[in-house]
Amino acid sequence: MDPHTTHHQNRKHSLLYLFFVLAAAHLLSRNLSLHGDDTVRVKKLPDLPLRFRSDGTFKILQVADMHYGIGKVTRCRDVLPSEFDFCSDLNTTQFLKRIIRAENPDFIAFTGDNIFGSSTPDAAESLIKAFGPAMESGIPWAAVLGNHDHESSMNREELMSFMSLMDYSVSQLNPSFDGLTRATKGGVTTKIDGFGNYNIKVYGAPGSMMANSSLLNLFFLDSGARAYYQGFRTYEGIRESQLNWLQVTY
Ligand SMILES: *[C@@H]1O[C@H](CO)[C@@H](O)[C@H](O)[C@H]1NC(C)=O
Ligand SMILES: *[C@@H]1O[C@H](CO)[C@@H](O)[C@H](O)[C@H]1NC(C)=O
Ligand SMILES: *[C@@H]1O[C@H](CO)[C@@H](O)[C@H](O)[C@H]1NC(C)=O
Repeated sequence: MDPHTTHHQNRKHSLLYLFFVLAAAHLLSRNLSLHGDDTVRVKKLPDLPLRFRSDGTFKILQVADMHYGIGKVTRCRDVLPSEFDFCSDLNTTQFLKRIIRAENPDFIAFTGDNIFGSSTPDAAESLIKAFGPAMESGIPWAAVLGNHDHESSMNREELMSFMSLMDYSVSQLNPSFDGLTRATKGGVTTKIDGFGNYNIKVYGAPGSMMANSSLLNLFFLDSGARAYYQGFRTYEGIRESQLNWLQVTY
């Protein structure tokens, strides 16, 4: 073969190759922009620290056992047969929205079985729907886990991490290393048991004498899931490492 032709073909191939690389890079860069509008999703933060109102009140709405599945196809349990066809997770959503509007709380505490693992193949989707009304309200909220939250696609650590990143959430995975270090006298750091052990301080009303003081300390502890104890199927509870942390943090 004429060496000139080979050289020419190589160049043609190189140019073609370069074109494909550029085209691929271009497509990739377009696909990397999240939600198609070049904006990167950032967690919305509540005003911190949490504070009492100037009338001296701090209202907490506690919500437990939503047992959320995946929305309108997840039917209600324990309703009358006549209600069954018209009752789903969306009723829970409606109820939560209504109660938030009616009570206008300063803080919402979700205390477990927020989602119902066996009713959803996708824990993330279920969490987003279950906490949707709280995220839309802009009211700071926190959550811990029950014994059903982890029964689908996320384990307890993943669930708490995810929940800590949701809009207006002040949930935390676990105390900081410093909190753990202080919890262990004698210098040995032991790992705290569970996921979702943290505390949240509530300060005095803005502009008041107590504006710079924490007046209320809300503690959240992971009481675990199911366990076997002496051959019986039962529930886990608060463990020694958690009590140690509680004692030095309180
Ligand atoms: C990448 O972006 C193109 C153009 O916007 C779109 O047609 C394609 O479906 C996207 N591919 C993926 C995997 O998202
Ligand atoms: C659930 O919501 C639907 C639609 O608003 C309503 O018709 C139904 O009565 C509700 N069911 C229960 C048990 O509250
Ligand atoms: C609280 O701290 C701020 C900022 O340091 C200060 O301006 C304010 O006077 C303090 N308020 C009280 C009641 O101590």
